[in-house]
Amino acid sequence: MARLSVNINKIALIRNSRKGNLPDLVKAAKDCEAFGAEGITVHPRPDERHVRYSDIPALKQVVATEFNIEGNPTEAFLELVLKYKPTQCTLVPDAPDVLTSDQGWDTIGQKALLTDVVARLQEKGIRVSIFVDAEERHVEGAKAVGADRIEFYTGNYAAMFPKNPSLAVDAHTRCARLANEIGIGINAGHDLNLDNLRYYNEQVEGLLEVSIGHALITDALYFGLQNTIQMYLRQLR
Ligand code: PXP
Repeated sequence: MARLSVNINKIALIRNSRKGNLPDLVKAAKDCEAFGAEGITVHPRPDERHVRYSDIPALKQVVATEFNIEGNPTEAFLELVLKYKPTQCTLVPDAPDVLTSDQGWDTIGQKALLTDVVARLQEKGIRVSIFVDAEERHVEGAKAVGADRIEFYTGNYAAMFPKNPSLAVDAHTRCARLANEIGIGINAGHDLNLDNLRYYNEQVEGLLEVSIGHALITDALYFGLQNTIQMYLRQLR
């Protein structure tokens, strides 16, 4: 059964729009878990417009489910992750000024870098997931660099879903089959929402975890955080 990891970046974004600590990110993480979240994801970007590097120690102390830190493995990022040892680190090839992650790794062209980073993280007992587009060569590439999991970039799936769900998910279904065959775990994320999540979960065999932020926090404005998390969980059951 796929686990729901709630990405709390957007909660930090609201906090950062004023001085002070409202909403309280650490409380929000604990509450998400109390409301049913099976993991907490953060993506501290270099400009710290969402979660800040300085948020990580307190979050690490309170997160009782699975703590997932995402990001581009710069030395500063790696230092942070190696120090605070989350359950999982998701490597994402996003440029410093990107609005949001919008593509996966070139696991073949970046093989040397990824092999080194994966080994450094695993040495500390951190599970490593590599963000990839749903392309067979990049699934194989992620396995070749020693990653434990892949995270499929689902932005393209979400964009095509309203018009043609089966075409939208086709590459993900095929790549998931390959991932299961070669023995690498499957996560997914980006633009997943209450409309497209159930179908994705049904079609992608062996899906272990989804991380969802933008749509979930938006839905929480209307339904409340507790109801919203329960609604997302129901899509996965
Ligand atoms: N996965 C990765 C690698 C991401 O960068 C993001 C966005 O921070 C997500 C998942 C979650 O995407 P969304 O906010 O669209 O749910």
